Amino acid sequence: MSARITWLSHACLEIRTGETTILIDPYLSGNPLAAASPEEVSPDYILVSHGHGDHLGDTIDIAKRTGATVVANHEIATWLRGQGLEKVHSMHIGGGHSFAFGRVELTIAHHGSSLPDGSYGGAPCGFLLTLEGKKLYHACDTGLFYDMKLIGEKGVDLAFLPIGDNFTMGPDDALRAVKLIEPKRAVPIHYDTFDLVAQDPKAWKALVEAQTGTEVIVLEPGGAVEM
Ligand code: NI
Ligand code: MN
Repeated sequence: MSARITWLSHACLEIRTGETTILIDPYLSGNPLAAASPEEVSPDYILVSHGHGDHLGDTIDIAKRTGATVVANHEIATWLRGQGLEKVHSMHIGGGHSFAFGRVELTIAHHGSSLPDGSYGGAPCGFLLTLEGKKLYHACDTGLFYDMKLIGEKGVDLAFLPIGDNFTMGPDDALRAVKLIEPKRAVPIHYDTFDLVAQDPKAWKALVEAQTGTEVIVLEPGGAVEM
């Protein structure tokens, strides 16, 4: 068995593992590169890394329609309950929880996390998922941080890393992130959605593969990778 991870563009992943579908950061409506509409996804779980609109995205509408359980930090989880969601699982950075589909750990991320109405969204996070014995690290929105080395020490099979620059790591720091994490494979994300984050992912692949042992997979929106 393997998990199948589809990149729906930006930071949004759709993960199918066993009978479970997990969405991360479902920014679909208003996203010029979205490979699916909010009506086309039917997750069992939605993981939200932080409160910004390009990550919280369509979480509320999708969760209300599908009954998906939303997993987020305590501040966002509490805010989502206030928006009428009942199936919300609150966690926080450094903590992990074993769900029926696998384990979710919240990792640090250096970024902001205000919610659309200006509410405090707590600290932003990334996710380390253990699915079918393999580890997937989604850095979400972050600058480079040296503790990525600690995440890498757990043995990362597949890492999703932002390369867009301006709001997150750019290509050079994302290369340094690969050197700290040493994942078997890496997928660049959070680029080309807006002019401000335009990047050349194939150039990044060449850079990373020339300097590290990590294989880089460049996906088109809607493209998938098995883990
Ligand atoms: Ni953000
Ligand atoms: Mn973002």
